[in-house]
Amino acid sequence: MRKGSHIAPAAIAAALVIVLGCTDQQSTDAVSLAPAAQHNQGGSSDTALTPQLVRMLAAQRGIGQLDDPPHVRPELVKLGQALMFDPILSGNHDVSCATCHVAAYATGDARSLSIGAGGTGLGPGRTHPDGVFIPRNAPPIFDLAQLRHMFWDGRVETDGHGHFITPAGSQLTPAMQRVLQFGAVSAQPMFPVAARAEMRGQSGNELTGIFDNDYADIWSGLMRRLGKIPQYRRMFEQAYPGKRFDDMNFAYASNAIAGFLVSKFTMNNSPWDRFLAGRDNALTQQQLEGARSFLTLKCSVCHNGPTFSDDKFHDVAVAQIGPGQGEGLQGRDDFGRMNVTGNPADKYLFRTTPLRNVELTGPYGHDGSITTLEGFIEHYSESDVKLHTYDPSQLEPDLRGTLLDNTTGVLAQRDTLLNGVVLTPQLVDNLVAYMRALTDPAARNLTRFVPKKVPSGLPVGQ
Ligand code: HEC
Ligand code: HEC
Repeated sequence: MRKGSHIAPAAIAAALVIVLGCTDQQSTDAVSLAPAAQHNQGGSSDTALTPQLVRMLAAQRGIGQLDDPPHVRPELVKLGQALMFDPILSGNHDVSCATCHVAAYATGDARSLSIGAGGTGLGPGRTHPDGVFIPRNAPPIFDLAQLRHMFWDGRVETDGHGHFITPAGSQLTPAMQRVLQFGAVSAQPMFPVAARAEMRGQSGNELTGIFDNDYADIWSGLMRRLGKIPQYRRMFEQAYPGKRFDDMNFAYASNAIAGFLVSKFTMNNSPWDRFLAGRDNALTQQQLEGARSFLTLKCSVCHNGPTFSDDKFHDVAVAQIGPGQGEGLQGRDDFGRMNVTGNPADKYLFRTTPLRNVELTGPYGHDGSITTLEGFIEHYSESDVKLHTYDPSQLEPDLRGTLLDNTTGVLAQRDTLLNGVVLTPQLVDNLVAYMRALTDPAARNLTRFVPKKVPSGLPVGQ
């Protein structure tokens, strides 16, 4: 992929991207070419690469150990787990949350773009008779208690004090908001159920006649469904002691799903966590090298904190494929954060992706346009050139023809941190090795969370 002419200046240019000791976002535009730049020249580097150094650099970027999962009442977890895997929440009983957040694929679906209502199959083998794709990649759902913004564009948001900003506006009433215990993730499950292409369906059930922006009616419709199943009535009342099912609304369901997610899909036993806790040999030498690069390069200016996300929005020049969000001249573009704020400065910005278990969660980027981890990291090297020369042959056949030429617009908005960034192949390898240290072994196989059956009696299909 890399052309010979790019290799020669790479080593010199790699030096440009070293920002050792630079810990806050504002000051990083003024990258100093200081002595720290010697780090990747190998051999006689000024500071020895020691575990202590790497822990210190991590602390400077706020990349500490991830907290233990919050304690969640077991009855709430049980209800949330049932709802997560139960196709009863989809209009035509054909899709559950776990159709796209699949246990066997590390809570994603191993596809560039998901396939929702009307599709059949699971993961890479899933197809839709009319070739309908969801415009974005299904992100992993690990460690979500930590994030204030949900979705690639952050359209579900909490201010951290119990106030939520969501596409439902005032339909998510203050009374409903008070039910939501786990931050932004508690409000998130209110939305896939309302989306036609994801779960509600186009026709054929009592929910499809409801207007798209009438969330309140869709949510009541779902509660009516659940209320017809005695086991759900019991489970809701056990999960929320002292409350009658008939007095509950869909926020109680959404909150339960979030309770399940935060308690079971928060995992903090990766080699990196063990390393931070003091086990020097938890990382290989190459991972240690990669960690130092990640922490001294610009990567950790955006990917920081225990989840490796600043919870903010940036344009890192990812190619646009698939149906998009109906934007732009051809109606196939995705303006990202601008959809939420209306601010042109937010065009093409997406939330910094958390990186724990990233080895397991490909394809990558908001539209899954880069299929391998190595490919995504390599993408940061001359990302402008990479965007111009993006190769759709890595995609599944149905998506190859969908590459949108929005390159000029995307590059106009590209984060200035990426200006002049060039990574040597060795550096890419080290970074990939380091990313693998972020995998908790417990995330490799999540099928233990798949219930044998769900209260509706519908097939779980995992
Ligand atoms: C048809 C596939 C599909 C189904 C079904 C689905 N999701 Fe998703 N999920 C996605 C996609 C795609 C996104 C990203 C969408 C976006 O950002 O616009 C997403 C985003 C999320 C996120 C945000 C994660 C983050 O890091 O911001 C959470 C949490 C989530 N889904 C949970 C659920 C739950 C709970 C359900 C069931 C109520 C569900 N999903 C149903 C595909 C799906
Ligand atoms: C300017 C902020 C910024 C910098 C610097 C940055 N990233 Fe990212 N990273 C992002 C954003 C934003 C995304 C999601 C972009 C999208 O989907 O359009 C992302 C996505 C990723 C992904 C894909 C994750 C997934 O699940 O889809 C990986 C891997 C990654 N970054 C690693 C790195 C590494 C390694 C570096 C340093 C070489 C780096 N990033 C530098 C902001 C940044």
